[in-house]
Amino acid sequence: MNITEVIKNRHSVRSFLDKNVAINDIKKILDCVKHSPSGTNIQPWQIASVTGNSKKNLTDKMQQEFLNGVQPKMDYDYYPSKWVDPFASRRKECGLAMYKTLNIKREDKQKQKDQWAANYRGFDAPVLLFFFLDKSMQTGAFIDIGIIMQSIMLSATEMGLATCPQASLAMYPDVVKRELNFDRKSILVAGIALGYENKKNIINSYRTDREDLKKSTKYFS
Ligand SMILES: Cc1cc2nc3c(=O)[nH]c(=O)nc-3n(C[C@H](O)[C@H](O)[C@H](O)COP(=O)(O)O)c2cc1C
Repeated sequence: MNITEVIKNRHSVRSFLDKNVAINDIKKILDCVKHSPSGTNIQPWQIASVTGNSKKNLTDKMQQEFLNGVQPKMDYDYYPSKWVDPFASRRKECGLAMYKTLNIKREDKQKQKDQWAANYRGFDAPVLLFFFLDKSMQTGAFIDIGIIMQSIMLSATEMGLATCPQASLAMYPDVVKRELNFDRKSILVAGIALGYENKKNIINSYRTDREDLKKSTKYFS
């Protein structure tokens, strides 16, 4: 695959094969994406790669928080508190289309809850990557994290692996920092679920549309 094909082929995967990713493949991806750019080359990312028992222990705890009704609280506001269009309708469409793929009806709150809980298990992917920033970092460093996350997802796609970027993996930051022994004051930005796509699970047939960039691009000459 060339880079155009890799970009177009990447999609969020929410069901993975029960197949481990070789540690050398994880290292190969990280070795590649260290070439990502960052403002003044500060390379602010701190990454935790979590597999095996460490992953099970952590995801059990995150899922339990959710099932106990603990209100998620990220280290920063990812989303606005008040949604306006066109973002409100795009967000709604995204959720509705996924539930439609899964044949989960609007009134079936238990199935919706079960599906959301899977987020806190990283959709049972064999590898979870967590992205932290030092507490001294400011808003700009979030750009650097976004760039390296996309680099990881593209590198993984090229290697035949699948990913799902997840804000939900940063919704119980205290649990993650405690279990992974990260500074309590560091900023947990997001996570990525990584593994081999389970192509037989219908959830992975769900695809999202994009607006024509003509609507959001102005050309000046
Ligand atoms: C930073 C970020 C956080 C996301 N968080 C979640 C999440 O918590 N759970 C989830 O199922 N998808 C999550 N997504 C995936 C988006 O829903 C997905 O990227 C979007 O719908 C476009 O679909 P695609 O990735 O298949 O192209 C996230 C994506 C990004 C970029």
